[in-house]
Amino acid sequence: MKILVLNGPNLNLLGRREQDIYGTVTLDEINNSLLSLAAELDVELDFFQSNHEGELVDRLHAAIEHCSAAVVNPGAFTHYSYALRDAVAAVEMPVIEVHLSNIHAREEFRRHSVIAPVAAGQISGLGIDGYRLALRAAASLANTAARGAVGIK
Ligand code: DQA
Repeated sequence: MKILVLNGPNLNLLGRREQDIYGTVTLDEINNSLLSLAAELDVELDFFQSNHEGELVDRLHAAIEHCSAAVVNPGAFTHYSYALRDAVAAVEMPVIEVHLSNIHAREEFRRHSVIAPVAAGQISGLGIDGYRLALRAAASLANTAARGAVGIK
């Protein structure tokens, strides 16, 4: 079973970017931590980061063929990208929305997510642990869906 880990704009700068908010952990360090968890969970991961909305949409579409779930940090697209929202709805796989910071405790414009209504769930404010929890949730939901597909209760 494969899970897509998708990161949106500016997340390539993690570790240097606004350290008071996002900490010093880099995206590579997050991804490496997810790789060791994936081994435990017996899932494979596909990683993709882009600063471009269309590339994120394309990668979600491509995931239909080979992924069973996705962990997505849409970055600022969280708050206004209807294209990404529609892509999440279209792929019909469990998508867990994750944010390093607690978007509900920040500026007003960050408190609204257009992704949340079509995501299976949202994790916000737990830093790197949020990604790890999101991966566990994605794997669990994908397993449940796979068991349902073969009629196992
Ligand atoms: C973020 C929160 C967003 O509001 C922001 O635009 C980001 C990062 C987070 O992980 O906390 O780029 O998604």
